[in-house]
Amino acid sequence: MNKITIAIDGFSSTGKSTVAKRLAKHLGYTYVDSGAMYRAVTWYAMKHNFINRERFDVDSLVSHLDDIHISFVFNKDVGFAEVYLNDENIEKYIRSLEVSSFVSRVAEVSEVRSQLVKQQQKLGKVKGVVMDGRDIGTVVFPNAELKLFLTASPENRAKRRFSELVKKGDAVLYDDVLKNVEGRDYIDSHRKDSPLIKAEDAIEIDNSNMSKDEQFHVILDIVNRKLKENA
Ligand code: DC
Repeated sequence: MNKITIAIDGFSSTGKSTVAKRLAKHLGYTYVDSGAMYRAVTWYAMKHNFINRERFDVDSLVSHLDDIHISFVFNKDVGFAEVYLNDENIEKYIRSLEVSSFVSRVAEVSEVRSQLVKQQQKLGKVKGVVMDGRDIGTVVFPNAELKLFLTASPENRAKRRFSELVKKGDAVLYDDVLKNVEGRDYIDSHRKDSPLIKAEDAIEIDNSNMSKDEQFHVILDIVNRKLKENA
């Protein structure tokens, strides 16, 4: 059967990566978490003090972009590819609320975007890729055979992200998580370069009232139909 490219876009905490990982595993495809790449650049900017609560030194970050090497290494114990920054596994640092509070601003920088889009297109050169993010169906893979756009209410998404962070032992407040989700929605969908918008040919799925399992099966049906069309 012919392999296809699956682009999954949507607001933060819509469960894109959960369903994308499961889909990739089921199909034997490669999963690429493009948000992790923006988080890795943000982590680098934080480590070098290019970004903090008071200021964001965009020029310094841009002048260091060539020093930022991001890779994914499959970890069979967890069952997915973890993100590495210059050969250091940074998976456990990049999902914190602190990184989340800066990442949308880093993702607004056009030079960061063009650098990461190039790398994402390289990773997707061979078919059989599931990639999730904000601009995958519009910018990274405008010719993807299947484009999905996931949505859910901000409160639903904040609840999901809050329980994930609490499970990991992070001391966070629900109101702060909700504020972060709403703030990122606004920046992600209003930025000048590649704002989060639904591609015209994307299929929209509101998963506010779906369990992870339900969502997976709804999407798997759509994928199977698409695979038949492309067979
Ligand atoms: O999917 P995520 O929450 O891990 O993404 C983190 C941030 O990265 C998100 O707020 C917006 C940005 N992002 C982006 O601008 N383009 C992408 N393709 C993926 C993520």
